[in-house]
Amino acid sequence: MEFSQVLEQRRAVDYFDPDRPVDSKLIRQMVEKAALAPSSFNLQPWNLIIVNDPQKKAALQKAAWNQPKITQAPVIFIVLADRGGWKKGHPVMEKTFSQMVAAGLPKEKYDWFADACSSLYGASADRQMAFACKNAGFFAMALMLAAKDLGLDTHPMDGFELDKVRNLFSIPDNYWIPLLLAVGYFDKSKSLAPPKWRKTVDEIVVSF
Ligand SMILES: Cc1cc2nc3c(=O)[nH]c(=O)nc-3n(C[C@H](O)[C@H](O)[C@H](O)COP(=O)(O)O)c2cc1C
Repeated sequence: MEFSQVLEQRRAVDYFDPDRPVDSKLIRQMVEKAALAPSSFNLQPWNLIIVNDPQKKAALQKAAWNQPKITQAPVIFIVLADRGGWKKGHPVMEKTFSQMVAAGLPKEKYDWFADACSSLYGASADRQMAFACKNAGFFAMALMLAAKDLGLDTHPMDGFELDKVRNLFSIPDNYWIPLLLAVGYFDKSKSLAPPKWRKTVDEIVVSF
């Protein structure tokens, strides 16, 4: 699919075909493509819980404003944003540094890298949240675009009770949950809502 078509045709679809499962290979491809999303210092502070068990989806729906798409869609991603992904000793932070060394950065730069990460992303609780959620947001957008390209439909949701979802799936405290993402195929027996309005370029561009 042309990239502009992917952008134009991605919609938050309200109705999923409950009788049309998604091949696990497609889910894998979707995640692999989305993993190409950019991130601060390439720290990739995102993870996913993939929910396809009907009982777990039913419990998740109750914690998510009872939104029917949670049980209608064959797959729900719980997108996780790791507020501690910048810390010294975090396995992804350490792997990122060793990859930088493999690409030519002197090993002696470790303290510089660790200090840069902690001053940029760890300076306050707000900074840690911003670090986690901005990067996980890019990843989530990439998931939605990759899905469309693979012929799948999605619906992002932040209408859920975070603590309930955290408890249901035993999600550790370092993670924030920026959104749930329903994945499946649009139910063609329903009609797709007309496209929503968007700000114009002039409404977007500001100066102060
Ligand atoms: C982070 C995020 C959270 C959202 N949460 C919900 C939600 O809980 N329930 C819902 O029906 N739609 C939700 N939406 C969908 C938006 O309403 C939808 O994307 C927007 O109206 C634009 O429509 P479109 O995606 O079809 O272009 C969410 C979208 C985003 C990006």
